Amino acid sequence: MQRVPLVAGNWKMNTTVPEGLDKAAELVQAQRPEDVEVAVLPPFTHLWPMRDVLRGSGIALGAQDVFWEDAGAFTGEVSPAWLSGWCDHVLVGHSERRHLLGETDEQVHRKLARALTHRLRAIVAVGETLEERESGATLEVVHRQVDVAFAGIDAGAMARCVVAYEPVWAIGTGRTATPELAQEVCHAIRLRLARLFGDEVAGATRILYGGSVTAENAADLFAQADIDGGLVGGVSLKPAEFLQVVAAASGVRR
Ligand code: PGA
Repeated sequence: MQRVPLVAGNWKMNTTVPEGLDKAAELVQAQRPEDVEVAVLPPFTHLWPMRDVLRGSGIALGAQDVFWEDAGAFTGEVSPAWLSGWCDHVLVGHSERRHLLGETDEQVHRKLARALTHRLRAIVAVGETLEERESGATLEVVHRQVDVAFAGIDAGAMARCVVAYEPVWAIGTGRTATPELAQEVCHAIRLRLARLFGDEVAGATRILYGGSVTAENAADLFAQADIDGGLVGGVSLKPAEFLQVVAAASGVRR
């Protein structure tokens, strides 16, 4: 069993299509370590043209969300069936969707399950709010999010799943979790996956940390035993710094 580190850039609702394609081209032209997987998750509008920019580069393409049905009267939603075969990853359960848009654990599960039926790879984001942390509920919240998201998912499909631990209070705030604190929760997530799917699957599943990851703090975070890379927001919009985060994940294959 080996876990290859993954660094994924979540661009959120930033960049026009031309700006995004320029940034992707910068990443393609740059030197990158060969032992780190890299993914970019631009807005939906960018995905199709960006596929051409990234082709042959080894940089994977991901969507920031996806819907739980394939087609129908769901105004504004994007079908996983449309992404299947050319878009590598989908992110589900990001805290901005949970907290700004009211997405539930159950909806996150439905999105994950449907994405997996289309052979997409899924990054499942979980994490506690500041209030939940301060009241001592962190592990309870993260366990619940993991349990509901992965309920009934086939163990074989776990090879296409990544978990991202993103404490809500660390996202976009410049307040990164300490490496020890991030490790503690990522380890708890791995134990939870072991309960659901057994040790082998849990040991092979990548768990990322996200929340104010920068070129300065990435190496210490990625050095932790259960942190297999990062989900990077703000810094992913700056290709040079993002590439430094990618470089920090080199050599951490486990
Ligand atoms: P941040 O965002 O790196 O800007 O904190 C992380 C995320 O939301 O995935």
